[in-house]
Amino acid sequence: MMGPAAMLLLLLLLFPVASAAGSRTLVFILAGQSNMGGRGGATNGTWDGVVPPQCAPSPRILRLSPALRWEEAREPLHAGIDLHNVLGVGPGMPFAHAVLHSHVLPPDTVVGLVPCAQGATPIANWSRGTELYERMLTRTRAALAECGGQGKLAALLWYQGEADTIRREDAELYTGRMETFVRDVRRDLAMPDLLVIQVGLATGQGKFIKLVREAQKGVKLPNVKYVDAKGLPIANDYTHLTTPAQVQLGKMLAKSYLATL
Ligand SMILES: *[C@@H]1O[C@H](CO)[C@@H](O)[C@H](O)[C@H]1NC(C)=O
Ligand SMILES: *[C@@H]1O[C@H](CO)[C@@H](O)[C@H](O)[C@H]1NC(C)=O
Repeated sequence: MMGPAAMLLLLLLLFPVASAAGSRTLVFILAGQSNMGGRGGATNGTWDGVVPPQCAPSPRILRLSPALRWEEAREPLHAGIDLHNVLGVGPGMPFAHAVLHSHVLPPDTVVGLVPCAQGATPIANWSRGTELYERMLTRTRAALAECGGQGKLAALLWYQGEADTIRREDAELYTGRMETFVRDVRRDLAMPDLLVIQVGLATGQGKFIKLVREAQKGVKLPNVKYVDAKGLPIANDYTHLTTPAQVQLGKMLAKSYLATL
């Protein structure tokens, strides 16, 4: 006969507590341009290195490295991904913290972030077959494979469109291009209902910001949520969200995600 202590020991040996991505890893794709890549504290030529508590590393927050392995996530989250740019704080870490603090999810939940953003890219750079699109799909598939079949792709977080405010034509074509992008991603990942949360522009690289914002709101596909960044604090470059703004945006994205559960 086996005593309760021995039984517990046996159970622990048979079912080790997952230390990294294992059971219950919620995987999120982070894609778009610089404000998703993160420029908080990094608009001055160098990053100021300020990491607020809402962006601190945690054993329950992983990122898929450029070499396609899970590792503990830390700022700047897009290091090695958003190339040739000075990187700072983005919305990914505060998003993950806010999701984990919600208490809606089981306590052993791990958040796996898949950074894919690249600064200054118009949506045409993300259409099916482009380098950025294929990299995003490759990274997403690798992320799920690295979960050993226990991970779940929870959502695509999308903050992009500033580069589409330069030419009127791009602004006018934005709704159609975004809808095609979402349909392609869902088809290629065989997830027809994949949740997409798009961020309404706070700034733009050109003058057609209003047109692109309207185009974003015009996306009428099911399971596409909209979180508005307009009004959040912007750095001196008039383009990038500050670190406090990114913390706020991360929380807003988490709220939008949690409302779908
Ligand atoms: C940017 O750099 C200038 C000069 O070095 C400094 O005075 C300013 O505080 C910096 N701004 C930020 C947001 O770091
Ligand atoms: C974006 O698209 C342009 C035009 O096709 C191309 O020259 C450029 O390399 C692309 N940028 C990225 C980052 O894919």
